[in-house]
Amino acid sequence: MNQREAFRRAADTVRERANLQPTIGLVLGSGLGGLADKLLNRTVVPYADIPGWPLSTVHGHQGNLVIGELEGRVVAAQQGRAHFYEGYSLAQVTFPIRVMKELGIGTVMLTNAAGGVNPAYQVGDLMLLEDHISIPGMVGANPLMGPNDDELGERFVGVAQAYDRRLRRRALEVARQHDIPLHSGVYFGLSGPSFETPAEIRMIRTLGGDTVGMSTVHEALVARHGGMRVMACSGVTNVAIDAVDTDLETNHLEVLEAAEIIVPRLTNILKGVLRNFPT
Ligand code: HPA
Repeated sequence: MNQREAFRRAADTVRERANLQPTIGLVLGSGLGGLADKLLNRTVVPYADIPGWPLSTVHGHQGNLVIGELEGRVVAAQQGRAHFYEGYSLAQVTFPIRVMKELGIGTVMLTNAAGGVNPAYQVGDLMLLEDHISIPGMVGANPLMGPNDDELGERFVGVAQAYDRRLRRRALEVARQHDIPLHSGVYFGLSGPSFETPAEIRMIRTLGGDTVGMSTVHEALVARHGGMRVMACSGVTNVAIDAVDTDLETNHLEVLEAAEIIVPRLTNILKGVLRNFPT
């Protein structure tokens, strides 16, 4: 079976379960899956039921594709995602994005839990990605490597406008209306799973990263390859540690705890964008 047939088979399985035709895809990161509970007329499809779909092994990722309505739009929401550090190939990590495209989805909204590198960022703040730096993508772990299927997208993809300007503008308007702290900045993508050393954090800051995390960039590249519009948002779950003489240590529990503050904020932003969706 070629790749495209695998995407189609997965999409057919989803279509057999859900009557609604989604137009927008949501990817909900660590601890952020609760947002899918807000969807109306929901159909829940466990990842395990979808052929080829990678299962997330990480705590805080429920592992369902939830299809339902939010602000009158039909959304397919991924409760959790698979990561490169779990041992999946980048083709597996980005398989769900290809399936979303196959389902007829034209816009994806990616979310992630991230460390705050910009000293102005606080736990609970949100950051809209206006751009990213992908260290894996630059050094040989780019999901678009390998033979290119011209039916899916072009060999060489321009990513100067990876994160849709109109969606960003709309998100910033919504944040202003709701008094939600939403920054715009650069997401620094790494493979993980170890968190960063303080020297790495200082390097990331010097290189222009505002948040740091272990996801999102691969999905954004594949979505752009497929011609989808992309919006992405980090929730700052912890402030990155930039000095060694400290008792502090980043841990996954603080990431999940902070996600509880972030979910209602992110929900408001996403709902506001969907309500007044820019064409
Ligand atoms: N670093 C990398 N990934 C993360 C972090 C972090 O500090 N917090 C949440 N995801």
